[in-house]
Amino acid sequence: MTRALNRAAFTLCVTAAVFLVAVKPAAHGADSSQSMELGREIFSGQHALAAHLRDDNRMLHDNAVRCINCHGHADNAASFGPPLTSQYLLSDIRRRGGPPSRYDLRSFCRVLNVGVDPTGIVLKKAMPQYALSDTECAALWSFVMAQ
Ligand code: HEC
Repeated sequence: MTRALNRAAFTLCVTAAVFLVAVKPAAHGADSSQSMELGREIFSGQHALAAHLRDDNRMLHDNAVRCINCHGHADNAASFGPPLTSQYLLSDIRRRGGPPSRYDLRSFCRVLNVGVDPTGIVLKKAMPQYALSDTECAALWSFVMAQ
């Protein structure tokens, strides 16, 4: 009897372990591809964000604040703003004459929100300041990290 119970308990544990190993990464994969899709929508303006210019509390028009307007892709040398790629954002480089710095999720959200880079330098006024949620910011970060 005890043996049968032990065997049943063992089978249950193995089944649970297999389930966790097999199902968890799949669920995580779905989350991150949804996040990536949201990031793409924000970048291209299909998902609008509220934004304004520094020292000016008038809201900008949705069409004016799409990242893609000013940040083309890495190969677009004529782009108005710097390239939003993992190589550019994660490289330790001098930005705006400051000491070398790189971005992480936190400093990326900060620059979008208040227009201050990782070393504390204030960005040009042309870069809008955005009111975005943690979810929206993380989605944008995962999108640009894949570029
Ligand atoms: C109207 C044009 C414009 C739009 C729209 C815009 N940017 Fe920018 N962005 C700029 C300019 C210009 C700079 C460079 C500012 C500077 O160097 O002072 C910049 C800088 C940045 C930086 C800092 C890069 C660095 O080297 O420190 C990040 C990050 C960034 N933008 C992300 C975004 C994202 C994400 C969006 C969309 C949510 C966006 N920008 C929309 C013009 C724009």
